[in-house]
Amino acid sequence: MSMRSHYCGQVDESLLGKKVSLTGWVHRRRDLGGVIFINLRDRSGVVQVVVHPEKQELFAVSETIRNEYVLSIEGSVSPRPEGMKNEAMATGAIEVIATKIEILNESTALPFALDDYISVNEEMRLRYRYLDLRRPEAMERLQLRSRLNALCHAFFHAKGFLEIETPMLTRTTPEGARDYLVPSRVHPGKFFALPQSPQLFKQLLMMSGADRYYQIVRCFRDEDLRADRQPEFTQLDVECSFVDESDIQMLMEELLKHVFKEILDVDLPAVFPRMTYQEAMTRYGSDKPDLRNPLELLDVTGVVRTSDFQVFQRVVSQAKGRVVALRFPGGTTLTRKQLDQYVALVGKYGMKGLASIKVNDLEAGMDGLQSSILKFLSEEIVRALLNEVGAQNGDLIFLGADQFHVVFPAMGALRIQLGEDGKLTKEGWKILWVVDFPMFERASGRWNAMHHPFTAPKVAGVSELRNDPETVVARAYDVVLNGIELGGGSVRINHQAMQQAVFDLLGIAPKEAEAKFGFLLEAMKYGCPPHGGIGLGMDRLAMLMTGSASIREVIAFPKTVTASCPLTSAPSSVDEEQLAELHIAVTDKK
Ligand code: AMO
Ligand code: AMP
Repeated sequence: MSMRSHYCGQVDESLLGKKVSLTGWVHRRRDLGGVIFINLRDRSGVVQVVVHPEKQELFAVSETIRNEYVLSIEGSVSPRPEGMKNEAMATGAIEVIATKIEILNESTALPFALDDYISVNEEMRLRYRYLDLRRPEAMERLQLRSRLNALCHAFFHAKGFLEIETPMLTRTTPEGARDYLVPSRVHPGKFFALPQSPQLFKQLLMMSGADRYYQIVRCFRDEDLRADRQPEFTQLDVECSFVDESDIQMLMEELLKHVFKEILDVDLPAVFPRMTYQEAMTRYGSDKPDLRNPLELLDVTGVVRTSDFQVFQRVVSQAKGRVVALRFPGGTTLTRKQLDQYVALVGKYGMKGLASIKVNDLEAGMDGLQSSILKFLSEEIVRALLNEVGAQNGDLIFLGADQFHVVFPAMGALRIQLGEDGKLTKEGWKILWVVDFPMFERASGRWNAMHHPFTAPKVAGVSELRNDPETVVARAYDVVLNGIELGGGSVRINHQAMQQAVFDLLGIAPKEAEAKFGFLLEAMKYGCPPHGGIGLGMDRLAMLMTGSASIREVIAFPKTVTASCPLTSAPSSVDEEQLAELHIAVTDKK
């Protein structure tokens, strides 16, 4: 007979009077005046097992049981006595009266209690990740993720997509991060790179005629880590031939609506709103705006243009200088210390200061306002400013002045912080497409691809691209959920001349382009169909769906923020012999 008739979490009132056999770990054992209660846990949940003292042998065994012992139990399902029911527990209306208990294995005391969330730091949790995952909610997150994957597979198979695997040992795939390299034993001094994404291979598959491809695939990027970034992470990677932007967007809308409905019973909007990059930056100071936050930025450069305030004067005289206002309702109560923290916040984004005006009493004119910069501004300008932002009593109006690319991100970060601090950011789901990204961004004197170098520009031809690269818009789109970039994709370049022109603009010399991407340029000569696609961050999607604070919570064995694994101690040194075989010498051993 099988050891188990049910999972612990499945035992409910429908089984009253029935015999069940259960297996699992002792979540908690309590000895209550002669009756022993064992909360037995498996991946589905926890059930209460009761051992009565009349069953002497059973009782004696139960007295030796400690937390996290592994048990096999038989018993009958019985209603809990009146007043003992636990509404908060899925199995809280019943208990299992034990008739047999076998200890399958013992456990020494765990390095941390599973219900201790305060004193256990993340390093410790990851060092014992297999124990950390015993926490019911941790296992629940992995189960949700498994379900999410299954739904995605079913969705794409039903639509006739081919699931095709692409190499893990490959060469550099530029997505803007550093590569993880793998030395080759048989090719001394040569290295594979782990893919930053399957970008080039999925494009080549379109050239093969695969037509519709998808893959749930691991990607590797050596970059600065944050709550929503890991060195290895999972993408739902999609590519289709003979499509435009809207085909890919509609496909992803259908998928996301489907998984949110199935898993969370949440209805995402029938069509996700589209917002241009320009609008996102100027209204929210971010290319991934969190629309749950009602605060908005306002460009008031025109209003303060004629002011005598030196800081503003200096900025408005520059072509890309902007003065940006942010109205914070109720902000007059902020303390000096809080204000200083906001100044420090925008400082991190390169702003040299942050002005603010307290609106105490609009009726009282200038006397009803409080600010260190009022002495520099005429009454007329102040009135126009207050009017423009729709000031009300109790508001604090923040004003930032700097170059476009400094002031908008800085004020955008302030907006997010104020939304949190003022408890203005609401619960719920706000999803949108951000579109019309610039093709290039300027960084230290050269052009960089804003998405990646294979994204098609919205231009008629190569000469239009070269004419004024800065103003060229890309056929790229990001899907943004609650202020997090869930995915990004584009329609691709499918003509060799255009691809070459983009490489040129990016400063990739013909020789380098040939060496790195020659195979792609060559493939484009042999009948490359129009194609496009997207990469969706599955870790981020699972993080949002489970309400987790970091993608580490939805990855079974994540890395720390310093890209290491406390459980296996990876990365680790290797012995000299192995290095020699790989033709590698380590020069800098810290
Ligand atoms: P992109 O670089 O925008 O596009 O990546 C797509 C999505 O992958 C997720 N993501 C990450 N998740 C966790 N940790 C990371 N370090 C990390 N980096 C990226 C994000 C992101 O939106 N090849 C293109 C896609 C395409 O054009 O089709 C690409 O990789 O959710
Ligand atoms: P200062 O004349 O430098 O003492 O600045 C006067 C006020 O202007 C202070 O409140 C500063 O915080 C503010 N300020 C300085 N630089 C900026 C800026 N770039 N944007 C907005 N306010 C600023």
